[in-house]
Amino acid sequence: MEILTASHLTKQYGQGPNLVKALDDVSISIHQGEFVAIIGTSGSGKSTLLNMLGGLDRPTSGSVKVDRFELGKLKDEDLTVFRRQRIGFIFQNYNLVPILSAYENIVLPMQLDRKRPDERFLEKVVALLGLEKKLNSMPNQLSGGQQQRVA
Ligand SMILES: Nc1ncnc2c1ncn2[C@@H]1O[C@H](COP(=O)(O)OP(=O)(O)O)[C@@H](O)[C@H]1O
Ligand SMILES: [Mg+2]
Repeated sequence: MEILTASHLTKQYGQGPNLVKALDDVSISIHQGEFVAIIGTSGSGKSTLLNMLGGLDRPTSGSVKVDRFELGKLKDEDLTVFRRQRIGFIFQNYNLVPILSAYENIVLPMQLDRKRPDERFLEKVVALLGLEKKLNSMPNQLSGGQQQRVA
């Protein structure tokens, strides 16, 4: 089953002499359960593409469909809820909230959704990531790899 389809994406930054065509007619289709790596030289548009696929930014033209959601048709507010509930995004610099502990960072999206974390599932994931002893640590007390796993 196709879980993500992007069709004819373009993304332009800037105008006139500063115009950058970061994406120029990109189409991709990803099936449920598939792992995909996007590879390219620095500046080739990987982050731009991920921003479009994850609903963090909107393309100049083209469409992105994730599951049954046509992202271009969602209002900003609905796009925010979509991201919170369906997208996991690990940023290059992790973007943890510096004043929240590792545990608080992990459960933050659920709290914003007014949902309680499933503690047993959470315990399993935390153990899988080897973060049991770091849950009360602040982001600046974590190694890069630990921050990445919290993210
Ligand atoms: N916000 C922005 N404003 C202007 N140009 C940008 C912006 N973001 C990225 N670019 C440009 O778009 C191109 C693709 O960038 P990016 O997607 O970050 O590449 P990658 O992640 O593959 O290194 C680069 O030429 C970059 O300078
Ligand atoms: Mg990048």
